[in-house]
Amino acid sequence: MAKRSNSISSANITLDLSSDVPLYWQVYGGLRGAILSGRLVAGTRLPSTRDLTVELGVSRNTVKNAYEQLLSEGYLESHVGSGTYITRNLPDDLLNAGAASNAIAKRRARRKPALSKSGKTISEISVSASPNPDQSRPFALGVPALDAFPYEIWRRLLARRCSYPQRSLLGYGSAMGYRPLREAIAAYLGAARAVRCEPEQVTIVAGVQQALDMAARLLLDAGDVAWIEEYNYPAARAALLGAGARLVAVPVDDEGLDVQKGAALAPRARLVYITPSHQYPLGVTMSLARRLALLDWAKQSDAWILEDDYDSEYRYSGRPLAALQGLDQHGRVIYLGTFSKSVFPSLRLGYVIAPPDLVDAFSKARSLMSWCSSTVEQAALAEFIAEGHFARHIRRMRSLYAERQSALVEAARRELGESLRIQSHPAGVHLVGRLSERLDEASVSQQAAKLGVEAQPLFPFRLKRDGPSFLSGLVLGYGAYDSREIRQGVSILARAIDSVLKSSIKGLA
Ligand SMILES: Cc1ncc(COP(=O)(O)O)c(C=O)c1O
Repeated sequence: MAKRSNSISSANITLDLSSDVPLYWQVYGGLRGAILSGRLVAGTRLPSTRDLTVELGVSRNTVKNAYEQLLSEGYLESHVGSGTYITRNLPDDLLNAGAASNAIAKRRARRKPALSKSGKTISEISVSASPNPDQSRPFALGVPALDAFPYEIWRRLLARRCSYPQRSLLGYGSAMGYRPLREAIAAYLGAARAVRCEPEQVTIVAGVQQALDMAARLLLDAGDVAWIEEYNYPAARAALLGAGARLVAVPVDDEGLDVQKGAALAPRARLVYITPSHQYPLGVTMSLARRLALLDWAKQSDAWILEDDYDSEYRYSGRPLAALQGLDQHGRVIYLGTFSKSVFPSLRLGYVIAPPDLVDAFSKARSLMSWCSSTVEQAALAEFIAEGHFARHIRRMRSLYAERQSALVEAARRELGESLRIQSHPAGVHLVGRLSERLDEASVSQQAAKLGVEAQPLFPFRLKRDGPSFLSGLVLGYGAYDSREIRQGVSILARAIDSVLKSSIKGLA
């Protein structure tokens, strides 16, 4: 027999008359919660709408609307002439699911979920875009001069696209990207980087990071060996590890990655990830002889080369060495580029230039990953390039970054002397300072963070954190900070170094 519930007190419905949430929704929520938690059991007869109206002090329509919502969702059933009941055949275990208390939820979160093999591999990787996500203070890495971007022009271009939207920009776009942007990129790379490509080879991606993930999945099987520079970009390392790659650290010297040593360490590698134009983070440019040797090795070994040309726009003296891709005669190089440094990182637009026989695979992989990038923003960017704003912005940024770099080098010379030697460098938006032997890079970095500046030690950039290190230093991003902030940052760094020196002297005494 049905259980009667002329009073709804067991449901414990509390109403907040001052809330923006409509009353009927509050009544509905109260009853639903009581049913899911088992406070109102299956088969219970609910009071009539008239009785509940009186009991709760709300209008009849409020209660009727709440009941109708619960009826349509299957929590209640009504029997003509007999009343409204909590649905009888709701399984108990499912009902209690909604009542999972915080304690149960926490216990569940601690439990190891049943992941696939590749899921386990991915979940064990620690990844963050920059070693420290706090990008707001000097000398955080990976951030361009956000204070100097021409936002007014960007706003106008975006507004034009949004105010008079073409239908073609609003539907699902091509997985390979917006054609005029692909054409603009192919033309720019041909002129600026001697990259040899047709627009058909360009796939627009959500930054280099997505390109690395796609390339790793397309080209590596779990257990395959890949070379990586011994000091490298941690997020690239993470993408390769995520695909199950076994990474081999190849030494880097003044000429860049040492191909002979790589071939001796891991002759059967399937892939190499490399930053030849501006080695990340050490800054070396790979020599022509090494580039040719790498291409030759890749051809002989049937291996792929992932060329990450992440900040090639920023060269302050001399002409940059052309991209490795332009020297490739055998279709082994997959060239990756990004607008994160030349526009801004949250745009999440970058590109892959694939050899012709890989184009289709990259296009398919791109469609599996969110189908395509935002076409409205791609269109605005294509116009930004076509109207000459991109080239003008890059020119302005070159002199701004050169100025900011000089501010850093001069302040460091004045305030840090031999403790942290920072030399000027003709490229990029970060510098590596070499610490004196008396100083431990981790201690200085920690002390600097406490006092308010980012100064990443070099060790997180190494593949193997244990084992002997021949370099001790700090990686300092300067692109996003004006000269005053840079000078203040260096003063703070000087205090941090001082305090580490003092405590190490105390420790010796
Ligand atoms: C070596 C390297 N590659 C690529 C990128 C850019 O990645 P994304 O295009 O995913 O923003 C960065 C950013 O800091 C980087 O340092």
